[in-house]
Amino acid sequence: MSRHLITSALPYINGVKHLGNLVGSMLPADVYSRFLRAQGHEVLFVCATDEHGTPAELAARDAGQGVAEFCAEQHEVQKALGERFGLSWDWFGRTSRPQNHIYTNHMARRLRDEGYLDIRSTEQIYSAQDGRFLPDRYVVGTCPNCGYERARGDQCENCGKQLDPTDLIEPRSAISGSTDLEVRESSHIFLRQSALADRIRAWVDTKDDWPSLTRAIAYKWLDEGLEDRGITRDLDWGIPVDPVDFPEAAGKVWYVWFDAPIGYLGAVQEWVDAGSPGSSVDIDDPDSAFNRWWRTDHGADDVHYTQFMGKDNVPFHTLSFPATLIGSGEDWKLVDTLKSFNWLTYYGGKFSTSEHRGVFMSDALELLPADYWRWYLLSNAPESDDSSFTWELFSTAVNKELVGTLGNFVNRTLTQVTRHFDGVIPQGGEPDQIEADLQVQISERLAFFVEKMEHLEYRKAATALRSIWSTGNVYLETREPWKTVKEDKERTACTLRHALELLVISSIASEPFIPTAARAMREVVPSLDWDSFALDKSLAHMSKLTPGDRIESIPLLFNKVAPEQLDEWKTRFGGNPAETQ
Ligand code: 2FM
Ligand code: ZN
Repeated sequence: MSRHLITSALPYINGVKHLGNLVGSMLPADVYSRFLRAQGHEVLFVCATDEHGTPAELAARDAGQGVAEFCAEQHEVQKALGERFGLSWDWFGRTSRPQNHIYTNHMARRLRDEGYLDIRSTEQIYSAQDGRFLPDRYVVGTCPNCGYERARGDQCENCGKQLDPTDLIEPRSAISGSTDLEVRESSHIFLRQSALADRIRAWVDTKDDWPSLTRAIAYKWLDEGLEDRGITRDLDWGIPVDPVDFPEAAGKVWYVWFDAPIGYLGAVQEWVDAGSPGSSVDIDDPDSAFNRWWRTDHGADDVHYTQFMGKDNVPFHTLSFPATLIGSGEDWKLVDTLKSFNWLTYYGGKFSTSEHRGVFMSDALELLPADYWRWYLLSNAPESDDSSFTWELFSTAVNKELVGTLGNFVNRTLTQVTRHFDGVIPQGGEPDQIEADLQVQISERLAFFVEKMEHLEYRKAATALRSIWSTGNVYLETREPWKTVKEDKERTACTLRHALELLVISSIASEPFIPTAARAMREVVPSLDWDSFALDKSLAHMSKLTPGDRIESIPLLFNKVAPEQLDEWKTRFGGNPAETQ
C-alpha cells in the first residue's frame, strides 16, 4: 500500500464550470483517486474553490452581490455539482478560509526570511472615475502580441500571453469602461523567482517521467528566463498582507496566484480540522496529521503527490508554486507527477464561461446522469491534442458503448440467468478451451487497463475498458446460451456463470470511470464481498462467485439518446460550428 496526495486545479469561483474545465482537472483526478483506492492505497484527494482575485470580484459585481456573499453561495453551488458528478473529494475547501490565510502568511514570512522577497515601486493603472487602482482583469484593451481587442490585464485569452495591465493598447476600465486612466506609482512585494531559477531547474531536471507537454512548458519558461513576480495587489478582497510582517505593504492583499496553490495546503488543513475540531495549526509538530501529508521531514517522505490541470496552469505549478515551496527553506512536499490536459473545444470553438458557450456542469446534469458525461469526456479526453465536443460523438459514446456494449452485456446476462436458472448463480458444466481463451483475453485486457491507468493515459484506459466490456458480448455470442439452454443445460450453466464473473470484473474495473453504474452492478450479487477484490491483474481470475447464491435483477444501466433529443440539444446549445465561433 502506498500513500497518494491528489489535487486538481482549484476551480475559479466565478461561475459554474463547463465540461472542458471538468475534463481538464477535476474529473481525471477523481478517476485516479478512485483507481488508487480500489487498489487498496491510502489516498487523500482535495480540491477547493479559488476565490480571490479580480475574476471573483468582477463576477460578484455582475451578479449584483457583495463578493463574500457571492463566493459563499457559489462555493455551495460548485460543491453540490461536483458531488453530483461523483467527484469523490476527501475535502472540497475554500481558499478564502482561515487555514489558507495562515499558510499564505507563513510562506510569505519564510520567503522574506530566506531573502526571496523585495519591495519594489511599480507603475499601476489608476482610474479616476472608479476612484481606485485597476489590477489584472480590471483593465481590458488590445493585446500587444496578437491584436485581440478584449484582452485582459493579466493574460490575453486569444494568444495566451501573460500581460501586465500597462502592456495593453487603448486600455479601459472593466468596471466603468472609462478610458480616463493614468499610471500611478504603488509599492508591491516581489518574489525573486530569478534568484530561485537554478534550484527550480535542478528540480525540474529530476522529473524525466513528467509527460512531454508538462516538461516542454516548464523548460520554455525556464529557458526564456524566470522573471520576478509581483505577489501583492491593490485590492480589498483577498488575503490581507500582515501589516506587522510587511508594514510597507499594509492595506494590500496577496495576489491570487500566490495564495491559490497554497490553497492545496489550506484544503488539507481544513480536512484535518474537520476531523478533529478544536485542533490548531502547528507547522513544526512532527506528528500532525497535516504534516504527514505535506512535510517531507515530518512523515510525508513516502507520499506520492499527483496534480491535475489544464495546460494554462502548468507554469504556475512547475515554476511559481515550487518557487514558493522551495524558497521557504522548509521541507515541503513537491509535486511528483503532473498530468496536464489540452483544451476540450465545442465544435472546434472555445468553451467560454464569460460568453456561456458550450455545455456547463449544471446543464449537463439537467439532461443526463453523470456517468454518461464521465464516460464521454474521459474516453475523448484532450490528452495528446485538443479534442472537440460534438453531440454526434456524444451520442455514439452513449448509444454504442454504454448502451450497446456494457448495458447490453449486463442485461442479456441477467435476463438469461433469471429466465433459465431462477435467478441463482448456475452450478455445473465444465469449462473448455473457450473459457480458457476467455481467461487469457480478460487477463491481458485488464493488465492493459491497469497499466494505462497507472500511467494516467485516460483514452487508452477507456479503450481497454471498452474491450473488457465487449469481451462479455463476444463470449455470449460465441456460446449462445439462449440456444444451448434447449439441449445442454450444463453448458449453459457454465456459460452464464462465466458471464456473471465477467460482470463482476467489469463492475470493479469500471468504477473509477462510471461509479454509479458500477455500484448498480454490485446490486446483482449483494452477497459478494466486493471490497475484498483489488483492481489489479489478480482481478481477472474468474472464481469470485459462489454457485447457488442468488442474483438480483437491476434496472437498465443506460438508455439510448434518441435522435429527437439530440436535435433538441443541438438547437438549444448551438451545435453548428458556424454559430458557435
Ligand atoms: O485556472 C484556474 O481555473 C485556476 N483557478 C486554477 C488555480 S489552481 C491552484 F493553483 F489553485
Ligand atoms: Zn493576444
